[in-house]
Amino acid sequence: MSLTDFPSLERFPRVPLLDGPTPIQRLHRLEAALGDALGGVQIFVKRDDHMSLGGGGNKLRKLEYLIGAAQAEGADTIVTVGGLQSNHARLTAAAAARAGLACELVLGRPVPRDDGDYERNGNVLLNGIFGATVHTLPPGENALAAAQMRAAQLRSQGRRVFLMPTGGSTPVGALGYMRCAQEIGAQAKAIGAEFAEIVVANGSAGTHAGLAAGLYAAGKPASTVRSFSTLADGEQARRTTLELTEATLRLVGIEASLGDADIQVDGRQRGAGYGIPTAQMRDALRMMARTQGLLLDPVYSGKAFAGLLADLRAGRYAAGRQVLFVMTGGTPGLYAYRSIFDAQ
Ligand SMILES: Cc1ncc(COP(=O)(O)O)c(C=O)c1O
Repeated sequence: MSLTDFPSLERFPRVPLLDGPTPIQRLHRLEAALGDALGGVQIFVKRDDHMSLGGGGNKLRKLEYLIGAAQAEGADTIVTVGGLQSNHARLTAAAAARAGLACELVLGRPVPRDDGDYERNGNVLLNGIFGATVHTLPPGENALAAAQMRAAQLRSQGRRVFLMPTGGSTPVGALGYMRCAQEIGAQAKAIGAEFAEIVVANGSAGTHAGLAAGLYAAGKPASTVRSFSTLADGEQARRTTLELTEATLRLVGIEASLGDADIQVDGRQRGAGYGIPTAQMRDALRMMARTQGLLLDPVYSGKAFAGLLADLRAGRYAAGRQVLFVMTGGTPGLYAYRSIFDAQ
């Protein structure tokens, strides 16, 4: 199968939340800064942080299909879950505002922090500005169970609720990244690039799964996608990603039986746990900012980019190869991590 007979996604309701394809750009200054350590590899970024709605980020691609499904079902209220500083929650609030739907966020505390920056700044600040109703849970409580209870309560009051799980990572949500894989294929062709790997952060697995499903559907190896896990350990994240990739392909009518080698997840950048900074993340984030003027985020893309830099320095790619890093947004999270950037 090739791009021309890629399965049509037209039958899935979609509410446009992007302004068109996001740009692919080459990181010339970063390449120069890496010098000989780069070994002649070319580094490109897919700017999925570059979207006009709600501060932008990867979740908007999933939300195009999730809000589409919610509207098709006649929902009037979106309920979703996340950690306190969830980008998915913030973008769901923004997308619901754009679609004219009520939005309730049930936020758990997977990160052991309760300081002022974490509690009130960053995504938390924006959720309120977007008009979402926020339910913040005490540590240890299961956000999905609490969201299910809240959804039942709202339904008993006559509301028509659409419940989205963590990160919007359902097969319907992952369609957004199948579409993105198709977009990347067309852009690569236009600029004459052949990406050896497409590198991305892995949280709830929907972004990796959608890209892998899209590549598979286009007749390319799903293993072209390489992700760095930030939430689950590497093996758990790989299994979840594999299942979601197959389920997403099934949704579009493709039965695929993928093997272990088809889904590449590297667990070595997660550090002490989800949302806990690493020195490598901070260095990678600063390097991108100081060479290219571009912002990564401290929880997802900063750790994944640290992984890419480690791979480049270890000579993973041969001279002349091209690699694409998907920038997934999340920069509001920086304001919740002020203290780790205080020192120069
Ligand atoms: C900025 C950012 N990058 C990457 C990810 C990971 O995406 P996924 O949950 O689809 O694996 C997330 C998820 O929350 C995110 O907010």
